Amino acid sequence: MVDELISISNGLGDMGTSIIDVIPVLRHVPYWVPGAWYAKYAKKYRPKAKSLMDGPFEEVQNRISLGTAEPCYLANELETLQNKGPIMEHDFRRLKMAAFQLYMAGGETTSSTLMMFLLVMVHNPHIQKIAQKELDEVLGHKRLPDFEDKDSLPYVTALVNEVFRWKPVIPLGVPHTSMEDDIYNNMFIPKGTMIIPNQRYMLSDPSTYHDPQSFAPERFLPRPDGYGEPLPTSAFGFGRRICPGKQLAEGSIWIAITSILSTFDILPLRDGEGKPVLPTMEFDVHLTVRPKSLPCIIRPRTTQHASLIEI
Ligand code: HEM
Repeated sequence: MVDELISISNGLGDMGTSIIDVIPVLRHVPYWVPGAWYAKYAKKYRPKAKSLMDGPFEEVQNRISLGTAEPCYLANELETLQNKGPIMEHDFRRLKMAAFQLYMAGGETTSSTLMMFLLVMVHNPHIQKIAQKELDEVLGHKRLPDFEDKDSLPYVTALVNEVFRWKPVIPLGVPHTSMEDDIYNNMFIPKGTMIIPNQRYMLSDPSTYHDPQSFAPERFLPRPDGYGEPLPTSAFGFGRRICPGKQLAEGSIWIAITSILSTFDILPLRDGEGKPVLPTMEFDVHLTVRPKSLPCIIRPRTTQHASLIEI
């Protein structure tokens, strides 16, 4: 359902580019007015969005009443609210929206980032080897990584940060609006202006990052081993509305990348003559950016590594 809804919102174009973003008063125009295609679109798909918010919520409520609910965000929040007294209608609404947002905002961004990681690994086998060497020294081929290993894995952690920087999956961020008149670099920005942050440029600005187009984890290592360049925090937006899933995303992507690299080789396919066939650097650009296709081989490094992942 979420995937379907994401492709429906993709059909509306890029964030901040609809006619309603430009002339907000048009949101009051009814769907039957000629030309109000966006209102027709909203009317058509509203029931789907509503059922996506209501369905999983009701399912969790049912399970709670049957005593079969697993611990999860909704179950925990509902329990906390119940313990405080009667739950109000606006609490239900707030919770439904929050749970819906978590998956909508967190699923596609996380999976697109992991696809970028796989793409860049097929193209950079030498970087993969350096990261695996560091992981092997810490894990000794005997176990999977854990968060306590982070301080002992500076190169791999830099590699994860470089994945966030090299091709940010939300290149133009999410549009914001200025709340007051402002002056920036001698430009007057009136209150109410839509501001689209060019995060991709910020993360590949040559005055901040040397050779910004290349994938180079060592840029984040402190000098003299690296270049001590700033971490790619702008990949997660800014200010009051900065991504609230930042820590979760950084943690889940770190553990996914370290686990994959410690146990698998990510290799290119081979043609009839045994030459590597690299996936193209082409991207689907919608709400997020992700590789168009990713033909590659993901293979356990040894039988010993395979046994680590076979539970
Ligand atoms: C690689 C992973 C992720 C990236 C790159 C990312 C990036 C972003 C960006 C750029 C924004 C816009 C911030 C702004 O307005 O300045 C945002 C907003 C948001 N993100 Fe993430 N995000 C990621 C993962 C997640 C996860 C895992 C969750 C939750 C489970 C999440 C939840 C949200 C929510 C709810 C918002 C809207 C916040 C608001 O408008 O107040 N994100 N994210």
